[in-house]
Amino acid sequence: MAAARLASLDFGIDIVSEADLPLDQIIQGDCVEVLNGLPENSIDLIFADPPYNLQLQQELWRPNMTRVDAVDDEWDQFADFAAYDAFTEAWLRACRRVLKETGAIWVIGSYHNIFRVGRLMQDIGFWILNDVVWIKTNPMPNFRGVRFTNAHETLIWAQKKRGARYTFNYQAMKRLHSDASKGGGTGKQMRSDWELPLCTGDERLKLNGQKAHATQKPEGLLYRVILASSNPGDVVLDPFFGTGTTGAVAKKLHRHWIGIERDDTYLSLASQRLAAVQPSQFKQEVFVFKSKRSRPRIPFGALLERSLLRPGQTLYFGLKGEVKAQVLADGSLKWDSFVGSIHQVASRIKNAPCNGWEHWYYEDPRTGQRRVIDELRERMRQESS
Ligand SMILES: C[S@@+](CC[C@H](N)C(=O)[O-])C[C@H]1O[C@@H](n2cnc3c(N)ncnc32)[C@H](O)[C@@H]1O
Repeated sequence: MAAARLASLDFGIDIVSEADLPLDQIIQGDCVEVLNGLPENSIDLIFADPPYNLQLQQELWRPNMTRVDAVDDEWDQFADFAAYDAFTEAWLRACRRVLKETGAIWVIGSYHNIFRVGRLMQDIGFWILNDVVWIKTNPMPNFRGVRFTNAHETLIWAQKKRGARYTFNYQAMKRLHSDASKGGGTGKQMRSDWELPLCTGDERLKLNGQKAHATQKPEGLLYRVILASSNPGDVVLDPFFGTGTTGAVAKKLHRHWIGIERDDTYLSLASQRLAAVQPSQFKQEVFVFKSKRSRPRIPFGALLERSLLRPGQTLYFGLKGEVKAQVLADGSLKWDSFVGSIHQVASRIKNAPCNGWEHWYYEDPRTGQRRVIDELRERMRQESS
């Protein structure tokens, strides 16, 4: 197995691990064997799209008598649930071993397998962070009309162990989603129900005019997963690489990738696909997001020191609210007889945890309009950067 040193990256980003890894390559073989040959604690993120064990009993036909191209591949077949569980436990354990302590995994599945997978993940020691529902905007109908249209798949996002630091690009996720009704664009949090189409059109790889792989995932899904939970220069591994969707998106986003796949045909399709991906030039400001937490901390009192606010000034709770507090010279607020930080006073008023930066307003002397105090903090940050 050819090895590349992590330290040879050209992203200009500090690399913590010196481990030898087969970066940006597809390794052919059984994923458990390959994973067991990789160094432990070396991978930042795993995306796993394992066999779902669909247990199809019979061929499916559409009303117009065309055959449905269902997942009937040999790789998706297991003798029984016990065999599927043994397989699942083996690859999950192998994945957990190679993940860094701060690492995380996403596993996608359907009702056929996801409950078994989730239980095993918890038993093995993964700590589930979210389950995300991928709502398919163009699902395949239930042709026989005997059940609901199966219009979603479930992703489980879990960290290697409870309480460790893990990557979540929270602000980037808030900004990414432009559909205001689903929590984007308006500064709302990204929700756990993701509406995305199936992989169709030019993105779908074809062989002799037919789908090259029965379960090729849409790049849009991987874009969200990888952007949310990794950073440029991180190593993203996919133990069931298929057509290489994970690698293609990871490469576009300037992450390293490692794919594991058993099948010759898929392997060669994925290699061609990956070779054709030309990521845009890496620029820090395009691909690296600063989380709010990593930005310089500005204490409220610094606004007084810089004369952006003055002792004795009135702050208003909310843009139109009537509740007022007075700024004291030491950076605390006085509301009635209660004195505390901007957060403590805000929490007391709301009777719930509250970020004072987002709730207190001052009167702009030039316009007489109320402005949120967070703008003053932002101004200080920009001046100091
Ligand atoms: C559900 S598909 C993944 C599709 C992939 N996400 C994509 O977008 O193309 C699962 C893949 O895992 C491969 N596979 C199944 N069992 C495997 C194993 N034990 N080791 C390595 N690959 C395996 C299959 O050949 C198949 O291509």
